[in-house]
Amino acid sequence: MSGGDSTGRGPAPATGCGEAAAPGEGLGNARRADFLDTLMDAAVDAIIIIDHRGRIERFNLSAQRLFGYTEQEILGRNVRDLMPEPNRGRHDSYLENYLRTGQPAIIGKGRREQGMRKNGEIFPMWLSVGESRRGGKVNFVGIIHDLTHRVEAENKMRRLEQQLFHADRLVTLGELTAGIAHEINQPLTAIAAYADAGRQIAGKPGAVGDDLMDVCARIGEQSRRAAAVVTRLRKLVRGGGVSKSRHDINDIVRNMLPLFEHEVNSSDIRIEFEAVDGLPEIYVDEIQIQQVLVNLVKNSMDAIRDDGRSEGRIRIVVVRREENLAISVSDDGPGVPVEQETHLFEPFFTSKPKGVGLGLSICKSIAAVHGGRLVHERPESGGARFILSLPLAAIG
Ligand SMILES: Nc1ncnc2c1ncn2[C@@H]1O[C@H](COP(=O)(O)OP(=O)(O)O)[C@@H](O)[C@H]1O
Ligand SMILES: [Mg+2]
Repeated sequence: MSGGDSTGRGPAPATGCGEAAAPGEGLGNARRADFLDTLMDAAVDAIIIIDHRGRIERFNLSAQRLFGYTEQEILGRNVRDLMPEPNRGRHDSYLENYLRTGQPAIIGKGRREQGMRKNGEIFPMWLSVGESRRGGKVNFVGIIHDLTHRVEAENKMRRLEQQLFHADRLVTLGELTAGIAHEINQPLTAIAAYADAGRQIAGKPGAVGDDLMDVCARIGEQSRRAAAVVTRLRKLVRGGGVSKSRHDINDIVRNMLPLFEHEVNSSDIRIEFEAVDGLPEIYVDEIQIQQVLVNLVKNSMDAIRDDGRSEGRIRIVVVRREENLAISVSDDGPGVPVEQETHLFEPFFTSKPKGVGLGLSICKSIAAVHGGRLVHERPESGGARFILSLPLAAIG
């Protein structure tokens, strides 16, 4: 990498402070070129000037620092050497196409691209390209802003967000432990009962084969049921990033309902869900979408209970709304007070004594990660309704 003095150029000529003349004005050609060099090298962003064939004619100090080449090394080389594939292999034809058709792809605009340093390292950058034509000579000026730090910060944010999603899932699962434990306990109790029955049958004199076979089959069935619960639980506890694949939305809803089985069985709160056939599959992270639904159903249960009622109704409905697939969770609880409506999705907003207030804001982030939205609606019939909509674009 070249240092600041490698170009051997002197400092900027003094222009005289406070003079009305434009910078560089009134200078001779040689001095003006010198002034321009100084300005180029003072630029924070990398500036690269190429000719119509892509050969590098100028490479300012920031470009030298960013790409790791000295000006001597890079001048005259093709600019494609500064990019990874696929642009590397295509850049010559981009230039040819533009010069032939006059149809610009990037010229006059900017976009996110990748650059490649001398040591082969690839980094994210913002590239904007301008064109100059003087005396029949065409030049392109590329200004490059290094995005490495911004992308790192974005990635860090995304990792933190994932950790938060995960932590919220664990908290929610913790709150539902009684139900989950019950779900595993039920088949285990059944297995124990069948095993006892089997022992009795085996102890009886006479033909017992058929009866024993039946008992063994039931034991097998119940063990598989318990194993399925554990598998589902392990999936939900799983950390890590987003893992999207194709799913039937009906299955996503159906697979999360057992988490509430215990609460439903031990109260008069009903959860209604009618599967809808013929919906396209969606391309989502199943666990995260379930996390949203679990949070919404849990909030509905809390709202009904906090209202002092043991009886209530929660409805989950899936509809295709033009370009979206909308999954709504409605309840007949007290609804959201008007003055709280604008705060619902704010982190740490809670009206519950033991609430954390992160559920809805996390659900909103999950919706955003999927290119969708989560909104609250006030049903005419009262209660609350939350609608998660996922764009059809996310439908593979
Ligand atoms: N179905 C609902 N009915 C009434 N209020 C709700 C409902 N869902 C959410 N809320 C309100 O939104 C607040 C924030 O919810 P959330 O972000 O999940 O945090 P928490 O459940 O920890 O309070 C709740 O405290 C409650 O006041
Ligand atoms: Mg909540």
